Amino acid sequence: MRNAAVTGHPIGHSKSPLIHGYWLKQHDIEGSYIAKDVPPETAESFYSSLAAHGFVGCNVTIPNKECAYNSAEKLDDAAEMIGAVNTLWLDDTGVLNGSNTDGPGFLGNMDQILPNWDNNGNKAVVLGAGGASRAIIWALLSREYTEVYIANRTMKKAEVLADHFGPNATAIKWDSLGKMLGQADFLVNTTSLGMTGQPELNIDLNNLSKSAVVTDIVYSPLQTRLLHDAAKRGNPTVDGLGMLLHQAVPGFEKWFGVRPEVTDELREMILREMGLT
Ligand code: ATR
Repeated sequence: MRNAAVTGHPIGHSKSPLIHGYWLKQHDIEGSYIAKDVPPETAESFYSSLAAHGFVGCNVTIPNKECAYNSAEKLDDAAEMIGAVNTLWLDDTGVLNGSNTDGPGFLGNMDQILPNWDNNGNKAVVLGAGGASRAIIWALLSREYTEVYIANRTMKKAEVLADHFGPNATAIKWDSLGKMLGQADFLVNTTSLGMTGQPELNIDLNNLSKSAVVTDIVYSPLQTRLLHDAAKRGNPTVDGLGMLLHQAVPGFEKWFGVRPEVTDELREMILREMGLT
C-alpha cells in the first residue's frame, strides 16, 4: 500500500484529496491520499523523514513550500527556478526529490483547452508577482513567449521577479497596463483579485487585440469578470480550474506509477464538490 498526502497548515480546504481519490478509484490502485496538517514548526523534520511517517511522497501547500524546497535533496528545473516545491517523492534509492508542478500544470491546462495557444505571438502580460506568478512566468518563458511584462500593485515585487528571470522579463507600472495591453498576445491574472470574497479586478481591455489569449488562475467563480469581459469581446479564454487539476498529475504518477488524465468527469466532480455548478 502506497500512501501520499497534501501537507500544509491549515489544510482543511484542500481539493487535492478529491482529485487523487478520484484517480486512485479510477485506476483501482491500492493506495491512499489524505490531508495532513503539518505546521511550519515541524515541517522540516516531517519532510526529511517522510518514509518513517509512512508516506512515499506528498504535496506541499501554504506555508511550507519554501521549507520543502530546502528539504528536498534533488530539485528539478522548475522547482529550482520557481524557488518553491509543491510535490515531493522518494525515488527508488530513497532520495527525496522536489518539483514545482504549478508551472507544468498551467501549461497542461492551456495545451488541453487551447492547443497552439502559445503560437500566437511573443508578448505576454502577467498581472501579479506572488508565488503563482513566478510559476507562470517560468512556464511562459519555457514556451514561445520571449517578452513577459509583469504588472503588480507593489511595483518592487514585480521588479524583483523581473530581475530573477532575466532580460526576457520586464516590470511595468500598473498605470501603464492599458497601453501595454495594446501589444499583448497573452494576458493572465495571477492575483487573487476577482476571487469570491475579494475585490474585483478592474482593468480596461479596450486596447487588447481580439486574438490575444486571456486566462485567470482564479477558479471561484469559474467565469471571472476578466474572463467574462474578454470572451464578450471575442478573445479566446481559458479558466483556472484546469491548472489545479493538471498540477496534480506529476505527483500521482511519481507516487502511484500511473499517469492520470484530467477528464471532463473529474472536472465536473470537482465543480460539484465546490458548489460551482
Ligand atoms: P500566490 O502564491 O497565490 O501568488 P501571493 O504570493 O500572496 O499569492 O500573491 C498575491 C498576489 O495578488 C500579489 O501579486 C498581490 O499584490 P501585492 O504584491 O501588491 O500584494 C496581489 N493582490 C492581492 N490582493 C490585491 C489587491 N487588493 N489589489 C491588487 N493586488 C492584489
